[in-house]
Amino acid sequence: MPDEAPAVRLSGITKRFPGVVANRDINLTIERGEVHALCGENGAGKSTLMKILYGMQQPDEGSIEIDGAAVSLRSPADAIGLGIGMVHQHFKLADNLTVLENVILGAEPRRRGRIDFAAARARIAEMSARYGLHVEPDALVETLGVGERQRVEILKVLFRGARVLILDEPTAVLVPQEVDELFGNLRELRAEGLTVLFISHKLDEVLSVADAISVIRRGTTVATCLDPAEVTSRRLAELMVGSELPTPELRESTVTDEVQLEIEKLTVLTPSGRPVVEDVSLRIHRGEIVGLAGVEGNGQSELIETVMGLVSADAGFVRFGGEDITDWTTRRRREAGIAYIPEDRHRHGLVLEGSLWENRMLGHQTERPNVRGPWVDKRGAKRDTTRIVQEYDVRTPGIDVPASALSGGNQQKLIVGREMSGEPKLLIAAHPTRGIDVGAQAAIWEYLRQARAAGLAVLLISADLEELIGMSDTLHVILRGRLVAEVDPARVTPEELGSAMTGATEDTA
Ligand SMILES: Nc1ncnc2c1ncn2[C@@H]1O[C@H](COP(=O)(O)OP(=O)(O)O)[C@@H](O)[C@H]1O
Ligand SMILES: [Mg+2]
Repeated sequence: MPDEAPAVRLSGITKRFPGVVANRDINLTIERGEVHALCGENGAGKSTLMKILYGMQQPDEGSIEIDGAAVSLRSPADAIGLGIGMVHQHFKLADNLTVLENVILGAEPRRRGRIDFAAARARIAEMSARYGLHVEPDALVETLGVGERQRVEILKVLFRGARVLILDEPTAVLVPQEVDELFGNLRELRAEGLTVLFISHKLDEVLSVADAISVIRRGTTVATCLDPAEVTSRRLAELMVGSELPTPELRESTVTDEVQLEIEKLTVLTPSGRPVVEDVSLRIHRGEIVGLAGVEGNGQSELIETVMGLVSADAGFVRFGGEDITDWTTRRRREAGIAYIPEDRHRHGLVLEGSLWENRMLGHQTERPNVRGPWVDKRGAKRDTTRIVQEYDVRTPGIDVPASALSGGNQQKLIVGREMSGEPKLLIAAHPTRGIDVGAQAAIWEYLRQARAAGLAVLLISADLEELIGMSDTLHVILRGRLVAEVDPARVTPEELGSAMTGATEDTA
């Protein structure tokens, strides 16, 4: 029954390089018409396996079936002949040729011995319309952005008749909007019955686009054909790294009875007079982490921005250490000891082109060690940046490199280090571990625990419900600008918290 054979079946694939076994007895089945994600850490052997499927490398052991038939792939030409195409991690287009020339290069349609450009153009137009792969056929490739180049690569593969498309880390080079576009393209390809093998180590992406997920670790398959609806990104990460991940947890209470922050009957209105924060009252004691759970857009951003003085209150008070700070400027609040890990580290937390030490000064230009008397103290800022790099384990080649040279996790550790300096009394932490790797996440949880033990009051906002539950002493739910429930973090499950956030239950305490 040829119709029931999987598009691809790899069995017992082993590939050795001098000193390393890149693939060890890998088994993988890819059904036709699915987007199948292959995940694994860097160096796990993903690219090697895909190069074997594309005929670029030959396995030492194992067998390959395409559509149920055993095949031998001695070169990419063999693979292409069987309908397998690959878009590499590093694009391989000719810069000095046009889009059209690149797409047809080596596969030129001919008519009476001459290249039939009209036929090529018509086919490219048809394919690009069908799959939503927008390109300008006559543009020179050197003038194209990364997203466009990728579409040209995909068209090039489709032009050669690929039915199975391998994309090796296609999102590594894209900005979020381009990622969305690419995923739209992948869904179109799937709708047309094509099979996509999508390589990635970004778990949120994998969960959002894949129909099935396989994980390889140190060259071996550790999970195959997982259902994305039934697996969490945390579980995937554990499969990838091969150990249980550190969990967010607080251990013994350090909560004191000294109120550090008091918000009383706070209301914030939009310019049109609609309340985005309505009659909110809460207290945070020294040594306490208060979590705020809510679906994004329910007033939590406005609430913390009001505490930071970035948004002004229309009614109510904010008191800090007993003092009314409702009308204070942001700078004055920072100087008084309110630290802020902002929601979007690229928009508000860092200047990406700036060096690490310039970023150390950002938002703290008026404080020591960045100033000495009335003067900016660059040496002080640099010395303190070196301290942060060491204490917060920021992996960087130096403090003069731009912040953009750091991974997301290391950027975040730099922000945390900066905000924790000067011994703040209150920390507003908005999504402190969003989008960062598991190691950096565990480190940030540990810094929060240490700061809490030292008497810091923390207001925590996060979309990661396990983080909120694990890291909060007290947990409020915000819905349409109002605090609608207080739940017990020691008891509540993520599912219960999730329903409280959508208003599905009145009270889950
Ligand atoms: N051509 C090669 N020669 C020697 N070693 C290689 C070669 N290609 C990959 N490797 C090694 O094989 C392992 C798996 O690499 P790779 O398949 O690129 O992993 P991934 O794509 O999952 O990051 C790594 O240890 C890598 O250094
Ligand atoms: Mg790779």
